[in-house]
Amino acid sequence: MTTLVAGKVALVTGAGAGIGRASALAFAREGARVVVSDINDTGGEETVQLVAEAGGEAVYQRCDISDEAQVEALVAKAVAAFGRLDCAHNNAGAPGKGFAVVDDTVENFDFNYAVNLKGAWLSMKHVARQMIKQGDGGAIVTTSSFAGLEGVRNSGAYVAAKHGVIGLTKTGAIELAAKNIRVNAVCPGPIGTALLASAIGKDASAKTHMEKLTLLRRFGEPGEIANAAVWLCSDQASYVTGVAFPVDGGMAAA
Ligand SMILES: NC(=O)c1ccc[n+]([C@@H]2O[C@H](COP(=O)([O-])OP(=O)(O)OC[C@H]3O[C@@H](n4cnc5c(N)ncnc54)[C@H](O)[C@@H]3O)[C@@H](O)[C@H]2O)c1
Repeated sequence: MTTLVAGKVALVTGAGAGIGRASALAFAREGARVVVSDINDTGGEETVQLVAEAGGEAVYQRCDISDEAQVEALVAKAVAAFGRLDCAHNNAGAPGKGFAVVDDTVENFDFNYAVNLKGAWLSMKHVARQMIKQGDGGAIVTTSSFAGLEGVRNSGAYVAAKHGVIGLTKTGAIELAAKNIRVNAVCPGPIGTALLASAIGKDASAKTHMEKLTLLRRFGEPGEIANAAVWLCSDQASYVTGVAFPVDGGMAAA
């Protein structure tokens, strides 16, 4: 174990799989106690088990981030379990369905708004309230996307929500700076998770096409996003706030 966030308490949403699970493991590896949260209880409990097997400490709390009462209960659980909250990776998200703008449905748009944008706001709101109450600062990382920085064909609702996450992140950074709470976004490129697999389907040419959009010509690993999130939450990033940080194999530069 190393010590980037030693002694801190970290909360990760969407930690039952993919990037969130990798983030929970990375926070634990770097010395934090971790609150693991998801709507997939089996995945969440597995993550807790993986953290324990790696020598860390974690608890699980079910939370649908689009439901304010559940988000409040999640923060309360973190405080009950570990006494405080220093870091939050507000990561949970889901792509909804892929439609062209002219074909999209209110149902799909509402879903994307509820999970990807309202959920990021509710998580930020209640985490920040707890950090303000503690009075000694904190760090929040949201998960936006490469789709938060550019348009993506057949993903208008998701793209709009992920752009919104960046605006929310910058505004949170402005409003919370005086409380020494830093707020940043990570913008993953294509990362090899179930989410991306469902978005591109079984079409091998779609995978090759996406790989070629990156300068490094490959999909990223969940751990590569997790490492960035942990660093942004650590004191090593003490002068970093309000950024939308691409971790995308160079996709944003191309
Ligand atoms: N994989 C990629 O290529 C990629 C690229 C850019 C951004 N992202 C973003 O990264 C984040 C993590 O994605 P991933 O690739 O690890 O996906 P994933 O599907 O592997 O994991 C997402 C997790 O979030 C959980 N979740 C979904 N809706 C939820 C809700 N309402 N409340 C709480 N938890 C919920 C799921 O149960 C799942 O465990 C998402 O915000 C996603 O939009 C992913």
